[in-house]
Amino acid sequence: MTTIEKILSNNQLIPVVALDRVEDVSPLCDALLEGGISTIEITLRTDAALDCVRTAVREYPEMAVGAGTILTADHVSAVQDAGAAYGVSPGLTDKLQKVIVASGLAFLPGASTASEVMRNLEYGYQIQKFFPAEAAGGVNFLKSLSAPLSSVRFCPTGGVNEKNISSYLETPNVICVGGSWFVGIGRIVAGDWKQISSDVRRILEKIKD
Ligand code: 3PG
Repeated sequence: MTTIEKILSNNQLIPVVALDRVEDVSPLCDALLEGGISTIEITLRTDAALDCVRTAVREYPEMAVGAGTILTADHVSAVQDAGAAYGVSPGLTDKLQKVIVASGLAFLPGASTASEVMRNLEYGYQIQKFFPAEAAGGVNFLKSLSAPLSSVRFCPTGGVNEKNISSYLETPNVICVGGSWFVGIGRIVAGDWKQISSDVRRILEKIKD
């Protein structure tokens, strides 16, 4: 099993977060763990992102701390330096792939068309992020891909929410889903940790096979 397969098999719900303050890392990770999630994807969309990755890695060895929105070679070396267990990208370029291979970073590349899925597959990615999931065709798109591209499993992200999560997870080529709806910036700024952990618990209960 690859690192990505292990992490995604253990977590059917990947929280995708943008963090502005390092001090939010600890209460957020506590809330996620309390709810039953042992991974987090911290996106490189804020100035504090790398410090947040470093802090989560240091303080939460029981969590698989990933870094999202990886777009460049600099991002790859920065997240490795911060200790990220894996990287996630909305897509993949040939240039980025070269850097990823050289780095050895466990990686989840994105795709939203059949050709992109095939290109990622040529690079050896049997598990891919389907992004932006809802905008790119949602569950129907994934079902359509399952015959011609039967070996690939997806982590749909982008527009996943509590209403559609079950339909995604019931789709046979879906390994897990990612989303920000339960860990939105509003909740984080407000320190709504109890709400986050109770939402996580409720969602996990709902999707439990
Ligand atoms: C991502 O980076 O994967 C998405 O922005 C998360 O999508 P969502 O905010 O629609 O859940």
